[in-house]
Amino acid sequence: MDRRFTLAAAVSLASVAAAAMPAAAQQGQVTVYCSILEEQCREGAAIFEKQTGIKVQMVRKSTGEVYAQVKAEASNPRGDVWWGGPGEPHLQAAEEGLLDEYKSPKLPELHSWAQRHAEQAKYRTSGIYLGALGIGYNTETLKEKGVAAPKCWADLLDPKLKGEVQVADPSSSGTAYVFLATAVQMMGEDKGFDYLKALHKNISQYTKSGIAPVKATALGETAVGIAFMHDMLTQRLQGAPIAIVAPCEGTGYETGSVSVIKGGKNPEAARKFVDFTLSPEAQDINAKLKINSIPSNRNAKLSPDAPKFEEIKLIDYDTPRWGSPAERSRLLKKFDTEVKALPR
Ligand code: G6P
Repeated sequence: MDRRFTLAAAVSLASVAAAAMPAAAQQGQVTVYCSILEEQCREGAAIFEKQTGIKVQMVRKSTGEVYAQVKAEASNPRGDVWWGGPGEPHLQAAEEGLLDEYKSPKLPELHSWAQRHAEQAKYRTSGIYLGALGIGYNTETLKEKGVAAPKCWADLLDPKLKGEVQVADPSSSGTAYVFLATAVQMMGEDKGFDYLKALHKNISQYTKSGIAPVKATALGETAVGIAFMHDMLTQRLQGAPIAIVAPCEGTGYETGSVSVIKGGKNPEAARKFVDFTLSPEAQDINAKLKINSIPSNRNAKLSPDAPKFEEIKLIDYDTPRWGSPAERSRLLKKFDTEVKALPR
């Protein structure tokens, strides 16, 4: 067999193989970096593949980690879409030219807060859900330790809670960055950092993902976790002895976001995926899996258990400001040097 024949045979074999492939494989593919819960990511990928025939390569990573990956891959992007996670790291990436502008035809179906989020980001990210930050505690563990139930952020400084509070690391976790930005906005930067330094004494560990402290609280591995209230609610609905607190001083919230990664290999499929994440079909996954963040599409089902925003004392949380590259980089560095590096 000469070389030319071998090549020709290979090419024709490849086309036979392509013809024999299932429809899904012929419709292209899309690589999604997913920063919501693993089970939401999986369910979303399955529905999208079924709807479009586009194959989804899904990678679950925390929001700060995806930000770092998208930045590291800027000269040769390997992802197409970034699905989920609080808005700040998305906004930082947008400002740094790492995301593509995309005005989804689904935008008019969204609540005004989500439309405003897209507009403020110059359409380089869009809002898919809201989640309020709060405190969760394991009722049994707290009772065993004889600690009074916390009602306020200040209560978490109780020395009896030494080694009993968990929150994620704000560099890797979008959840924990919302906590950091909340402390700074609510108390002012100096007092906010004083609070974080005092709280540091009670922290057992800064986990990589935002959901880890929730799971640890559910299992009683830590008495108290700081995370999104809707994530703690999911555990409670599954029977975990978790009580959920909307802190008395007030609290911040996330605008969960979705973005098209600039220079991705599958831009058309990426835009289709973004349209999907803004649709009721994708957002109804929450209600189905008992995940209680508040969806951005007006026609999506709002879980009856979802935390009632009107009953939570919310601060006037400024996502664009704390998502700007200068502020986010500065706060993260300051947290690392002035809080995390302290002995406990
Ligand atoms: C969970 C929550 C989301 C949140 C995400 C952030 O999936 O349900 O509301 O946006 O965590 O994850 P991270 O690990 O970046 O804190």
